[in-house]
Amino acid sequence: ATSGPLAGHTVVVTAGGTREPLDPVRYLGNRSSGKQGVALALEAAAAGAQVHLIAGVMDIQAPVEQSNLSVERIETADQLQAAVLTAAEDADVLLMAAAVADFKPADYAAAKIKKTDDGASPVITLQRNPDILADTVQRRAQQHRGPKVIVGFAAETGDASTDPLELAQQKLARKGCELLVLNKVGENLVFGQDTTEIYILAADHVQQKLGETQAEHVAGSKQEAAAAVVARAAQ
Ligand code: C5P
Repeated sequence: ATSGPLAGHTVVVTAGGTREPLDPVRYLGNRSSGKQGVALALEAAAAGAQVHLIAGVMDIQAPVEQSNLSVERIETADQLQAAVLTAAEDADVLLMAAAVADFKPADYAAAKIKKTDDGASPVITLQRNPDILADTVQRRAQQHRGPKVIVGFAAETGDASTDPLELAQQKLARKGCELLVLNKVGENLVFGQDTTEIYILAADHVQQKLGETQAEHVAGSKQEAAAAVVARAAQ
């Protein structure tokens, strides 16, 4: 598509989960299916953008590459960081839908970790991964270049005493991005499903510009949610 609200713009989308290796046969992973991220990439392409999809581990196949949609596969958070760093330089919009592992095993065992005769259980020490979203926002501020619109995603379960919207509002401010997409997640909610329920929150300065104060609520297919996010980012 060469027409549409995002014609002439470059959009980078991250999707799926990262996989953090523990030894040659084991890893730490998460339940991200990649469906929301792929839906975002397809919606952005349909809106006329030049799209680069950076995809981690997904339950679904990556979309077929087209003239305005390229796909890059990564596995670890460190690989994702390197890929985003490069791609974001020339991007107008970054949609950070990937479920990035917050921690990775501190030491990679070059040989498979074995059971020992004494019955001892191994202890796995974890180490923080970079916050790619926050780092990209920071780098943009320092270098005065990078995506004009950075969109973060937050999967929150909430609990009896905390409102997920409140958590999302705090996360939006902490990360410094323009938009934050909240979805309420649970074991049988959102992950791997074709439907979702999201709230699109805008940073204060963006809200003022758009003249709106309410978070936009969308319940429906992940494709419908993606369309709403892409439309908001284009605005
Ligand atoms: O802090 P939290 O993990 O809830 O933030 C979610 C958002 O931050 C998502 O957009 C996710 O892609 C991004 N993220 C990241 N690097 C991490 C963790 C999360 O870019 N290490």
